Amino acid sequence: MNREEKKRILPRHIAIIMDGNGRWAKKRSLPRTAGHIAGAKTFKTIARYCNKIGLEYLTVYAFSTENWKRPKEEVEGIMDLLRDYLKDAENFKDENIRVRFIGDRTPLAEDIKALMVKNEEGSENATGLNLNIAINYGGRDEITHAVKKIINSGISAEDITEQTISDNLYTAGCPDPDFIIRPSGEYRLSNYLIWQSAYSEYWFSDILWPDFKPKHLEKAIEDYNQRNRRFGGI
Ligand code: FPP
Repeated sequence: MNREEKKRILPRHIAIIMDGNGRWAKKRSLPRTAGHIAGAKTFKTIARYCNKIGLEYLTVYAFSTENWKRPKEEVEGIMDLLRDYLKDAENFKDENIRVRFIGDRTPLAEDIKALMVKNEEGSENATGLNLNIAINYGGRDEITHAVKKIINSGISAEDITEQTISDNLYTAGCPDPDFIIRPSGEYRLSNYLIWQSAYSEYWFSDILWPDFKPKHLEKAIEDYNQRNRRFGGI
């Protein structure tokens, strides 16, 4: 197998923590929101690139359950970016990308919730990349929500399996992430996909998210190809 072919062994599902927007803006003496604008551009470029190379699933962390603690202007700035992105209902449609949102939608603005449904329905027949966007997402919140759903379903305790839990998460039906990428020099999971990441491989880098390019993703995938995944076996 030559180098080119080797690069093409893709993980089935890549998850990304889009971190470092604030620091990127600070370095340029810009407001934090400018970092999020640049981060949203990178997100679109990377999603398109993942679709182009034939990735099956990409899950990005856009807003966590903890991000509400940020200053009001910053939260509003991120929500406005999301709104703009969603309003372009043709987003990704021509590109055959299927969009799905994961997280608790309850506290989101009504117009955003309606746009999310519109984007999901508008792209549901796409056969290219499955793009999951995590908004007001937290892994612990997701598990808590799943436990409530399971109890309310009336299933008896003995019948609950790991699959029952997986089937009641926001990511139900989606394979677990093979590979989790976190740029910006932080080495933690920050409540992201904590159930699903049990056997994920990780890739960290100092690059700030707005500077993250397809070439960095290619490098990450090359590194992934060197990993020896044993899933607890030998
Ligand atoms: C983390 O960087 C980033 C966020 C909390 C927001 C991510 C949002 C986007 C990339 C925009 C998403 C938009 C769409 C359309 C999905 P940080 O602010 O924590 O950076 P810092 O650690 O340097 O402060």
